[in-house]
Amino acid sequence: MSGDPRGGNGAAGNASATWRATVLTLYPEMFPGPLAGALAGRALENRIWSLEFLDIRDHAHDKHGSVDDQPFGGGPGMVMRPDVLAAAIDAAVAGGSAAPVIYLTPRGVPLSQSRVREIAAGEGATFICGRFEGVDERVLESRGIEEMSIGDYVLSGGEIAALAVIDACVRVLPEVVGAAESLDEESFENGLLEYPHYTRPRSFEGKDVPAVLLSGDHERIRSWRRAEAEKTTRERRADLWAGMHLRSANTRAKP
Ligand code: ADE
Repeated sequence: MSGDPRGGNGAAGNASATWRATVLTLYPEMFPGPLAGALAGRALENRIWSLEFLDIRDHAHDKHGSVDDQPFGGGPGMVMRPDVLAAAIDAAVAGGSAAPVIYLTPRGVPLSQSRVREIAAGEGATFICGRFEGVDERVLESRGIEEMSIGDYVLSGGEIAALAVIDACVRVLPEVVGAAESLDEESFENGLLEYPHYTRPRSFEGKDVPAVLLSGDHERIRSWRRAEAEKTTRERRADLWAGMHLRSANTRAKP
């Protein structure tokens, strides 16, 4: 089974400017899921991006539709067969494309906002959603597949991870978020977590909005926000904070 959420055959709307997500999954009914709503859903309707989802089981060779088998060497769980997955990948990327093919797995390289921006700047990506214990290593090698993790925890499959990665890419596509500076100021864009936000009412359950934000002094507000972002990053994310210092030391060292 394959599907296009706009009712086409998977090719509709793929003009050259359209960022294209292709998903290989055993659970195509999980797509577009939450991507049909809000910002991403509107952009999908407006053909700023397109989504195609393909059922890996359609590439099984036997009448039972087997996609997995026991691991050589023993051990728990089942492993996705390389021949079935390779056939599904080759069908998805037929015609050739420079777009990355990404396998979602907790063993992968952790996703960063800079990788999100790189993927979004390209023509799209193909996402492989695993189930079971994993997929046969040989297909990952032979098809040059990028292994990606969305965090140090284990989901029951790659589908929710693929939805998260696609959402992160779509929201940074040109034309999707109106105010470009609202992206520049958010978490990770400058190596820091974002500063805290406040709105009306000025006093809520005995807590007042910080006075500096009511001062109208843009320079003071900017430096207060920067200090708050640095404090939160230092307290919550020692890894990001250390990276910030390395980057600024490197910049200073340049002639
Ligand atoms: N599949 C299962 N867990 C995952 C994770 N943390 N990241 C990406 N894909 C996954």
